[in-house]
Amino acid sequence: MSDDMIRIRIAQPSDAGPIAELHVDTWRTAYAGILPDDVLLGLSPSAERRQWLRVIATSDHEFAVHIAEAADGELLGYGSAGPARPSGLPYTGEVYTLYVAPDHQGRGLGRRLLFAMLAQLHLQGFDSAMLWVLAANPSRFFYHAMGGAVAAERRESHFGVALDEIAYSWRDLEMFGSFLGAAYQGRANRRD
Ligand SMILES: CC(C)(COP(=O)(O)OP(=O)(O)OC[C@H]1O[C@@H](n2cnc3c(N)ncnc32)[C@H](O)[C@@H]1OP(=O)(O)O)[C@@H](O)C(=O)NCCC(=O)NCCS
Repeated sequence: MSDDMIRIRIAQPSDAGPIAELHVDTWRTAYAGILPDDVLLGLSPSAERRQWLRVIATSDHEFAVHIAEAADGELLGYGSAGPARPSGLPYTGEVYTLYVAPDHQGRGLGRRLLFAMLAQLHLQGFDSAMLWVLAANPSRFFYHAMGGAVAAERRESHFGVALDEIAYSWRDLEMFGSFLGAAYQGRANRRD
């Protein structure tokens, strides 16, 4: 599959099922040995589908779920971004999730999804962005490769386990403004 046949677009309700399946798949791959086994074993595509339907339904001019989709409609990755949740950090936008299907990692889709989300945040009027990633997740170095700067560390409880997290930040989203190309079918309504 040629990479230029893959498009990045905003998720629709009909994407909730494939996102849920990929969510379960990528969580079990990325968090084995980090999150408790019973949490990973207990993940249910049908429960996640209901959750993603709710998430997609709440998409508005500030918050969106993005997907990477093959020409035949196969979901290859997804991510979500919107206003920064309160954390005391001076960044206005936040990337909440970013996952690429294990079989399709390492071919530039993570970068395309991340840049699309940062560009969309910029378009909505957010001047900066950050994200939290588990310190034990080796994927965090991807954000370093994407120009993110380590902005903070904290310890949070997830599923009853205290886990260290690292925040990566992008102080100025201006450079991502030109990223939304013809292949991207996004929305152009600004926050203001
Ligand atoms: C992290 C993730 C989103 C990256 O997506 P990807 O499609 O595999 O990454 P890309 O192919 O776009 O990589 C872009 C660049 O980042 C680099 N990179 C990717 N993963 C990296 C890693 N773990 N460590 C260091 N560099 C990495 C690549 O080498 C590439 O560098 P280049 O520009 O010099 O070629 C993906 O691997 C993933 O979904 N991982 C598991 C889930 C996860 O942990 N997600 C993060 C939770 S917040």
